[in-house]
Amino acid sequence: MGKHGQSILLVALLCVAIGLSLFSMQNSLLGCSQIVLTAFGSNPPRITFSAGPCNCFVDYVPSFGKPSVGCNCSRINPPVCKPAEVRIVEKEPVRETAKEVVKEPCPDIKQDPVPVVQNIIKREPWWAEGKVWHYPSRFPRCSMDACFNYSRCENADELLIYSYDLPSPPVRYFSRIRESKWHTSDPDKACLFFGFLDAPGPWPPHPKELPFWNGGLNHVLIIFADKWSQKGPFQDSIGFASVLASDIHETTYRPGFDISIPLPAKYHINELQNVKPFDRQYLLAFRGLRYLGYRGEGTLRSHESFRAMHNGKDVVVATSCKHSTNNLQRKENPALGAYCEEDEAIYRNYTYNQLMNSTFGLVPAGVQPSSYRFGEVLSAGTIPVLIADNYVKPFDTLFQWHRCILQFPSTEMHRIVPTVRALKREEVEKRQQSCLGINRSFRDNDALLETTIRALKARFMGAFPKLSDIQAS
Ligand SMILES: *[C@@H]1O[C@H](CO)[C@@H](O)[C@H](O)[C@H]1NC(C)=O
Ligand SMILES: *[C@@H]1O[C@H](CO)[C@@H](O)[C@H](O)[C@H]1NC(C)=O
Ligand SMILES: *[C@@H]1O[C@H](CO)[C@@H](O)[C@H](O)[C@H]1NC(C)=O
Ligand SMILES: *[C@@H]1O[C@H](CO)[C@@H](O)[C@H](O)[C@H]1NC(C)=O
Ligand SMILES: *[C@@H]1O[C@H](CO)[C@@H](O)[C@H](O)[C@H]1NC(C)=O
Repeated sequence: MGKHGQSILLVALLCVAIGLSLFSMQNSLLGCSQIVLTAFGSNPPRITFSAGPCNCFVDYVPSFGKPSVGCNCSRINPPVCKPAEVRIVEKEPVRETAKEVVKEPCPDIKQDPVPVVQNIIKREPWWAEGKVWHYPSRFPRCSMDACFNYSRCENADELLIYSYDLPSPPVRYFSRIRESKWHTSDPDKACLFFGFLDAPGPWPPHPKELPFWNGGLNHVLIIFADKWSQKGPFQDSIGFASVLASDIHETTYRPGFDISIPLPAKYHINELQNVKPFDRQYLLAFRGLRYLGYRGEGTLRSHESFRAMHNGKDVVVATSCKHSTNNLQRKENPALGAYCEEDEAIYRNYTYNQLMNSTFGLVPAGVQPSSYRFGEVLSAGTIPVLIADNYVKPFDTLFQWHRCILQFPSTEMHRIVPTVRALKREEVEKRQQSCLGINRSFRDNDALLETTIRALKARFMGAFPKLSDIQAS
């Protein structure tokens, strides 16, 4: 995507409306400002402006996608702020660190009365500062009993799903859903509606344009994109829909309602199927890309305590900086490329397959906490050592992940090697066995679809037929 380190030109047309209640239908517009902001490296860029009795600000954090707007109003309570139009233009890197604010009166806007919600998003709290995945919660608080119409699911004895072709036809392991027993082409019979949001732009999509939307009731929005800012819908547009995504964080997740799904492995390593954990060439290994982004995404792979695990013997950490975004950033800031050459020499010394022949396999977060590597390491019978903050592991209602993987936050990487060395033999063998059980559910597209349906059924907690289906194998 090449966002990092680039200058951001933000054009926001903001209208401030004041309502007497949070869901007032009669908002009166107080003022609009067109704002142009160019910022480089400041994080987040903030501009302030006043509108009527209100002092407002707009913050733009690139990976959040949408600027957050907040206001303090002196006269009327509670204030209601609604950005009427926000257009974000990201430009090629420029040298200036300029920040420019232009304010103009905006043309008269006729607005339909719409319910608006107070939208004051606080800046990151201290414990989240510098951490990438502490996104504020984005969605309406929803649970199955509050946001779901059970009576749509009463009459069938199988979970029936209607799949839209909008805005995208079913993708990845859902692509054959229409051939499955869970599919119905009759929306009246459907218990669930699937909408696939991984389509080419324009973004974000507006799920309410889906023909049977009904406020999002019984809808499941499916997204494989790296980041919410790329493909995720705006928080105020998802209504009662739940989310099934490969990039779900603890801070945005609604347990029992949203489901974290895996990225399907790009490679399945078959030749290691019968190799026991202590008959392998390495103890702990990784081969993959380093990221240098200034926002910190994936940069744990460049961190000293990640590199320091490498001993060239039983622990191998082989990384490469060769990546177009990195190249761009190294041009801006050559210091980011520290150790890239040394790392490249190590990287060339090993192959991906060779390093999978390892008792433990590192699965460090990349630009998002989930990665293809997770499934690939599982397929090799290698025990994943996940390094990710705030990540909801795939199908966490079905699998007892703690019996299989080890997981460390990005701040505790120095403890990984001592920990894996200290584990008892039986403990490691047990972990491999339980990982192999999970590998069966990841084995191919059909298994992944079936596991996803099991996870969806688990949300009903027995209030849906075929309870036996949801038991994890
Ligand atoms: C509103 O005013 C309070 C008190 O002066 C201040 O702490 C807060 O940061 C202000 N909020 C915004 C959104 O400007
Ligand atoms: C819930 O589903 C039932 C059965 O399809 C339908 O009659 C009812 O109108 C739905 N309720 C809502 C709020 O959509
Ligand atoms: C894995 O490593 C072990 C120990 O070095 C070796 O005997 C075995 O042949 C390797 N297996 C594969 C498939 O590379
Ligand atoms: C690459 O492997 C060779 C042969 O094992 C070794 O001599 C050399 O030091 C290694 N290079 C790096 C950078 O690890
Ligand atoms: C994991 O599943 C894949 C796909 O079925 C299979 O090819 C692989 O051999 C399995 N791995 C192990 C270690 O059994």
